[in-house]
Amino acid sequence: MGQEEGAVKRRILAEATRLGVLLNPEALSILIENYDEKSLQMVLSKLAEEAKKGSGIVVSKETVENVIGKSREANISIGVHTQPLAKDIEEKIEILKSYDAKQVSDDLEARKQYFADRCSKISSMLRSRADMSPYYPLRKACSLPDRSEGKTIVMVYEKRENYIVVEDMDFMTKILIPKDCDKYLREKIGRLLPDSVVGVSFYVSNSRLFCKSIIFPDVPIRSFNTAEEDVSVILTSDIHYGSQKFSEKAFLKMVKWLREGGVTEREQEMSSRIKYIIIAGDLVDGIGIYPQQEKELNVRDLKKQYTGLSNLLSQIPEHIKIIVIPGNHDAALRAIPQPPIFDEYAEILEDNGNIISLSNPCMVSLHGVKFLVYHGTSMEDIATFAKNASYDRPENAMEIMLQLRHLAPVYGSRTPIITNGEDKLVIEEVPDVFHTGHVHVFRSGVYREIKLINSGTWQERTKYQEQLGIMPTPNIAAILSLKNGSVSQVRFE
Ligand SMILES: [Fe+2]
Ligand SMILES: [Fe+2]
Repeated sequence: MGQEEGAVKRRILAEATRLGVLLNPEALSILIENYDEKSLQMVLSKLAEEAKKGSGIVVSKETVENVIGKSREANISIGVHTQPLAKDIEEKIEILKSYDAKQVSDDLEARKQYFADRCSKISSMLRSRADMSPYYPLRKACSLPDRSEGKTIVMVYEKRENYIVVEDMDFMTKILIPKDCDKYLREKIGRLLPDSVVGVSFYVSNSRLFCKSIIFPDVPIRSFNTAEEDVSVILTSDIHYGSQKFSEKAFLKMVKWLREGGVTEREQEMSSRIKYIIIAGDLVDGIGIYPQQEKELNVRDLKKQYTGLSNLLSQIPEHIKIIVIPGNHDAALRAIPQPPIFDEYAEILEDNGNIISLSNPCMVSLHGVKFLVYHGTSMEDIATFAKNASYDRPENAMEIMLQLRHLAPVYGSRTPIITNGEDKLVIEEVPDVFHTGHVHVFRSGVYREIKLINSGTWQERTKYQEQLGIMPTPNIAAILSLKNGSVSQVRFE
């Protein structure tokens, strides 16, 4: 979009906001195409009247065409707007981690360095624990005499019913799981993922290592940081703009709610405190993401998908900052960490002036509350390898990621990972809020005072999801208060 067109769009939206008119993306495009400074106010006033008369809350393309066509004189009707509480509160955003695109060398040496970095980072977390003593490197542990006991740190190569194959940078061996092991150890082994780094408490018998317990690097128990300011964040994801199943009506209902508040006093208050929106990837449906996807698309051009979404987001009040990261459907590199959405597409969104585009994953502080935002592609692998994780219980997979201190431990399965030296997917800094998406199921929970939110979707069930047996929970937004950490959910239907 050119500068002039951007200015026209902003001018139309400012006037539409003032008059309480909510436009669907096509309606906004027609107004931009037919822009006329002198008649704009009259046209929008007429649209406001039409919206009040009609049953829908959103002005459609047909209504705009009709009104522009008739081009009649009309009196201005001004909507009643309350002053949102969040508008007067100063923005406090700190981007703690966001990764840019850089030359990727994925040769064997780079991959070795990558896994060495993973081992080294997670080993130092484990070594700082009081229960990791006496510690022996794996080779040394294997040479200890019978009846010795100790702790070692390993990367899981493979897990089987009665043993795990483990390795470190120097050695590889089997650790046997005693037949009479307790439920607690079985449960922990169930959570182990290939390529994760954990501590093992062992004993030696007949020159073989036996597992006594598994020690996860885990997150420390600490309290949730709160903000002084009474503002809130909407956590959402998986809009999938461009899909035939995108719930435009529900999404626009949320936009309207942000502009005007809900009917009840509680909702008015809740809506007026929203200062930020975080969208954890899959902003658009993309092109060619899965076989036969084109049959399920409404908008078959990637730029048009971002333009349509931009037209929706541009109607969100300006004082609300929107942070976006890419998902596997977006215009970005596929392997994680995914750098931000490609410039030529991000610019379409950024044209609105209130959008910040970051990488997947990223870490952001809002008024001192730290958010780890990650699209969540690796949940598919976690659901495959961990016993208690599944698509409909994403909070369990999130808990496992925190316990293993890694966002995507499994290498070489469904999740493409950039393995060039440094492992940026290790959860080094402990967040206050862990926000993911991808599985299209809204779930929230708490693990060691960390708020877990998998934010659902704005897409109704697709044929592809039917085949996979995924039952999405669309049109729900999570609202998190930075002041007290409470999480509410609002359904827009
Ligand atoms: Fe998605
Ligand atoms: Fe996704």
